[in-house]
Amino acid sequence: MKHFKEYMIMTALLPFCFSCDSGDIYPKETVYDGITIETELHFTGVGAWPEDYQLILAAYGDDTENPVASQSIDQVSTDGESVKITFANVLTDAKTIAVSMVKSRKLVYKFTEALLTEGEKKVELPVQEVNLLTFNRLQSQLFSQCAACHGGSTTASAGLYLTEGQSYNMLVNHPAVHSTKMRVAPGLISGSFIVDVLGGSTDVKYNHSKLSSLKAEDVVLLKEWIENGAKNE
Ligand code: HEC
Repeated sequence: MKHFKEYMIMTALLPFCFSCDSGDIYPKETVYDGITIETELHFTGVGAWPEDYQLILAAYGDDTENPVASQSIDQVSTDGESVKITFANVLTDAKTIAVSMVKSRKLVYKFTEALLTEGEKKVELPVQEVNLLTFNRLQSQLFSQCAACHGGSTTASAGLYLTEGQSYNMLVNHPAVHSTKMRVAPGLISGSFIVDVLGGSTDVKYNHSKLSSLKAEDVVLLKEWIENGAKNE
């Protein structure tokens, strides 16, 4: 939320009226009925680019989950790369603009969000930093699938709580119950028992690779996060 900024958008929606008395023929103009937003997105953690999920630039009105307008963002392959985006004809009732990750139009996670207030028709947002490797994303995308057996109800299998606010301390540099490894060893995929478990390790009674909601790219995200130091940010 550190990228919140306020921008003035002047909603001068002039009636579309002009006369062509002179008989001149003018090139056809696009009817303009919204605001234009220009922004630059600066991506880091691109190894965890969501491929099964869609990454979109979305404008939200009062409903903060279903956008009034959106456009997809083309994949970036190099860390630190920037993409300039022009978002035209955004409805004037848009209040925020966000880089969001969606699945079947359902919001999974918002990376950055900027606030729009009344003002100009053309808004230039400064560079938006989009780190694809945040722990919050991991919580929303992956651990939300685990809470049913790991502390979301009354029990936590293997004493492991994967609920929001608890999962980080329960994993990072925390010894596993069913292995001599850590549950998560920062920087070390082979030393992180959680990777074995999701891969179907028989050291635990439940075969996690059978979890129907679990997608290959959820595991890619987990591994990228571990490799990059398993940071709590
Ligand atoms: C259907 C229930 C269920 C779901 C869903 C589930 N787990 Fe588990 N998990 C278990 C059980 C049961 C154990 C412990 C088995 C045992 O004691 O042998 C376990 C053990 C683990 C362990 C080993 C902990 C240790 O210290 O040895 C890890 C790590 C783990 N789960 C991670 C996850 C993650 C990550 C998810 C979500 C992607 C998840 N689990 C979803 C049932 C589940």
